[in-house]
Amino acid sequence: MIASRSFAAPTRRCLQKAQSQQQWIPALTQLKSQSRSYAVPYEEKVAKFKGTKGPNGKYTVTLIEGDGIGPEISQSVKDIFAAAKAPIEWDPVDVTPQLKNGRTVIPDRAIDSVRKNFVALKGPLATPIGKGHVSLNLTLRRTFNLFANVRPCKSIAGFKTPYDNVDTVLIRENTEGEYSGIEHVVVDGVVQSIKLITKRASERVLRFAFQYAEDVGKRKVRAVHKATIMKMSDGLFLGTAREIAKDFPSVQFDAELLDNTCLKIVTDPAPYSDKVLVMPNLYGDILSDMCAGLIGGLGLTPSGNIGDECSIFEAVHGSAPDIAGKGLANPTALLLSSVMMLQHMELNEHADKIQNAIFATLAEGKVSFSAMWSFLFLHVNVIEAIGHD
Ligand SMILES: NC(=O)c1ccc[n+]([C@@H]2O[C@H](COP(=O)([O-])OP(=O)(O)OC[C@H]3O[C@@H](n4cnc5c(N)ncnc54)[C@H](O)[C@@H]3O)[C@@H](O)[C@H]2O)c1
Repeated sequence: MIASRSFAAPTRRCLQKAQSQQQWIPALTQLKSQSRSYAVPYEEKVAKFKGTKGPNGKYTVTLIEGDGIGPEISQSVKDIFAAAKAPIEWDPVDVTPQLKNGRTVIPDRAIDSVRKNFVALKGPLATPIGKGHVSLNLTLRRTFNLFANVRPCKSIAGFKTPYDNVDTVLIRENTEGEYSGIEHVVVDGVVQSIKLITKRASERVLRFAFQYAEDVGKRKVRAVHKATIMKMSDGLFLGTAREIAKDFPSVQFDAELLDNTCLKIVTDPAPYSDKVLVMPNLYGDILSDMCAGLIGGLGLTPSGNIGDECSIFEAVHGSAPDIAGKGLANPTALLLSSVMMLQHMELNEHADKIQNAIFATLAEGKVSFSAMWSFLFLHVNVIEAIGHD
């Protein structure tokens, strides 16, 4: 009795919140009623970039430089974008948290900038331990309802790891599941944490995953789950995936148990290179770091947090306070995140130019493991490669 009473209220609140986040529904309803060809017409896409060029012919992008090594690696992106003549103007904002009515909030100026520009590039943000406010990263995710976290991991020539054929894309549900934050003490010594899965949030991330698969030409989507154990929650995610799959006849769909996926990817990642993996929050958090490990670590892996209105692109690593200001920070992950951002904005020509320059620089093999971490070396050589393009 105590248990059921104690979790009823927070669960209800969270469900109400999930029900009230409906702004994506009209677009999805529209999609459902139409027959589908291979490519989704750009106007109908889930989470389509809505920004427009200013009178100077450039898009404005909000820049959150972040803490620690953030300003160094952000500078690298700015210089390389300038060399590639990317039509981007930066709007730098400060997201140092403010306390408003007892709640941690992001300054209005930063929120307004992201809302206005529909897109942001973000350096790492340090989370103070035991200072009483929630992670800024989580706050940003909640403020802009960034429902999908996209994490591609591709082997980089010139950077030797046990495998040279990794090419995975993982899409993680970013708003609920095990990270709903519904935890409480039932009785002394017994705690309960609720994994919340809703059909709406599942449908939204799954539809995005199928759309992404079409866009990048990986015409297989695999849902990763544990519906054998969590029959209701993962069962709902899996059942929804099967329903959504019917709307995307050009994309093959299947499903796999999480433990099976982990074992198979680390044994041989090659069979995963033609698929997009989609999964609930916690599984995605863990599996995406595991894939990053296969290509050489978090210093090389980009990510995008996709929302209905706005999207934020960021490196996955932290603020690395131990090396901040020493010129040792590797900008690759933030650079590749900025390439993902350009692709999201449909600026594919500039994205290709920058990406090719990064990969060509690394593939030359002149970058030794220790030199790879040299901010200046990589930075200068990428700019030179763009100049030769
Ligand atoms: N997305 C984010 O903003 C994000 C993610 C993780 C951690 N953090 C925050 O960052 C702070 C530090 O966290 P941490 O030490 O656990 O993890 P970290 O990723 O900052 O550092 C772990 C190790 O990796 C190295 N490293 C990380 N990025 C590097 C890069 N680009 N080039 C070279 N070396 C790099 C660091 O020097 C360190 O030795 C914490 O406050 C944490 O909350 C933020």
